[in-house]
Amino acid sequence: MTDTPSLISPTPTLSNKDRPPLILGVMASGSGSNFEAVARSIECGSLNAKIAVLIHNKAGIKAIDRAQQRGIPTVFLDHRNYPTREELDRSIVATFQAHQVECVVMAGWMRVITQVLIDAFVDRVINIHPSLLPSFPGIHSIDQALAARVKITGCTVHLVSLEVDSGPILVQSAVPVLPDDTAETLHARVQIQEHFILPQAIDLLADRNSHPEG
Ligand code: GAR
Repeated sequence: MTDTPSLISPTPTLSNKDRPPLILGVMASGSGSNFEAVARSIECGSLNAKIAVLIHNKAGIKAIDRAQQRGIPTVFLDHRNYPTREELDRSIVATFQAHQVECVVMAGWMRVITQVLIDAFVDRVINIHPSLLPSFPGIHSIDQALAARVKITGCTVHLVSLEVDSGPILVQSAVPVLPDDTAETLHARVQIQEHFILPQAIDLLADRNSHPEG
């Protein structure tokens, strides 16, 4: 085990299907604990997939180390080098296509994406978000939940539509808000659930891909 093992345990219950591994392209802007949760689920055999490449838009983030430790290629696409969001997305699409990516996983990607990416991977772009959507979309979702004094929040994995943090919901998990919660303690508990539901959602999508009529 490496750091914070309690936050990143592979999902134990996913079934492996008799199909080739789903080829994933992951996008991350931060720590990459969700990237790692997916990688660990693959490594322990509970998720039949392969991470072909990690795209990141920030230098020095921990997600890069997590990929490199596993020999997974990383590609740095600095959003500041692109005059429009569409041009950044065209580079993202080209990178994923070059790696034969079938499904795109936004695992803490903190940029707004465009129709360019959605159209290139129709119904195969998923996002993880730290709230029970449609509540608290956008940034600072944990702070939004605390400010609203909700008793329950959670996390959502959904197919990506153009509007930020919207689209058909694949999996959600609820997390109680405790009276003495800070943003840090609440986010830590939400992330434990994220690390379960992201591999589950990918498995769901892989199932749909292999049985498109189902
Ligand atoms: C996660 O909590 C994810 O839900 C959130 O960023 C964090 C990334 O953590 N994403 C969003 O807020 C997207 N709107 P990680 O880098 O440790 O996986």
